[in-house]
Amino acid sequence: MKPKIYITRKIPQVIYDQFTEIADVRMWEEAEIPVPREILLQEVRAIDGLLCLLTETIDEEVIRQATKLKIISNMAVGFNNIDVSFAKKQGVIVTNTPGVLTETTADLTFALMMATARRIVEASDYLRNGEWKTWSPMQLTGRDIYGATLGIIGMGRIGQALARRAKGFKMNILYYNRARKLEVEKELGIEYCDFETLLRRSDFVSLLLPYSSEVHHLIGENEFKLMKETAILINTARGGIVDETALYHALKNGELWAAGLDVFESEPIDLESPLLSLPNVVTLPHIGSASEATRLKMAEIAANNIIQVLKGGQPLTPVKIK
Ligand code: GLV
Ligand code: GLV
Repeated sequence: MKPKIYITRKIPQVIYDQFTEIADVRMWEEAEIPVPREILLQEVRAIDGLLCLLTETIDEEVIRQATKLKIISNMAVGFNNIDVSFAKKQGVIVTNTPGVLTETTADLTFALMMATARRIVEASDYLRNGEWKTWSPMQLTGRDIYGATLGIIGMGRIGQALARRAKGFKMNILYYNRARKLEVEKELGIEYCDFETLLRRSDFVSLLLPYSSEVHHLIGENEFKLMKETAILINTARGGIVDETALYHALKNGELWAAGLDVFESEPIDLESPLLSLPNVVTLPHIGSASEATRLKMAEIAANNIIQVLKGGQPLTPVKIK
């Protein structure tokens, strides 16, 4: 009997086709609507492999239900949507898609730095709303990126890719990471500093660390007080790292100059969120890795991880936890 696979969202046909020779495949056929929880719980009962997205919570309940499950393949680099330690306890392999989305996500992070510093979205709206009457000396003035100080929290692959971009803009680069990375410091010419010092000195603070309960609301009221009033916060990691209520107040009270956000505490963000009423916030619908080529590569790796494991081999990119 062929192994069974469930895919929680419509994926590109070329990727889907790779499964059909080796497995019986079922898929939630919608592209824009996540699979309802009750259906997911039903579908996982008899499967050997699960291909899921960051929109699905793969917790103890789901894993217990899937008694034959061998692999959970997340089509994302982040895996905070999966209870990895429980999966491990049950002997279920968890995989993610590192590496292929590094440059694409660093590109978007840099785009948010530029969009916020130079008020790109606000300026575009100004023109479209018919407010552009004349050229004026201090009209829509922003902040320089060239030569400014960038503080990167989380010096993984994406952090390093961002630092390489920032070099081209002659930025002064600070970083904070749980483990100091001397090799990377030397190679990129970046400076390690403690968390508080980074917040105090940076003109841009970029969050590029994985989410876990330990970093929940890492950036909140106290951190905004430490940051410069002219600083810009960029979050392309996970929404839960920032206390959004505190962020709103900091922006509103002039304790922070602007924020560029690709991720939110709850996604999709509630359109009533006060953050969306502020002109100095640029918000994007979690598109960090969204280039055609990268999303295809992510789907490809996610598929290959399942195929390898169901053929009795080793996964390409297993998530390792202590
Ligand atoms: C997207 O946020 C990812 O983790 O790949
Ligand atoms: C993610 O791939 C990271 O290491 O930053």
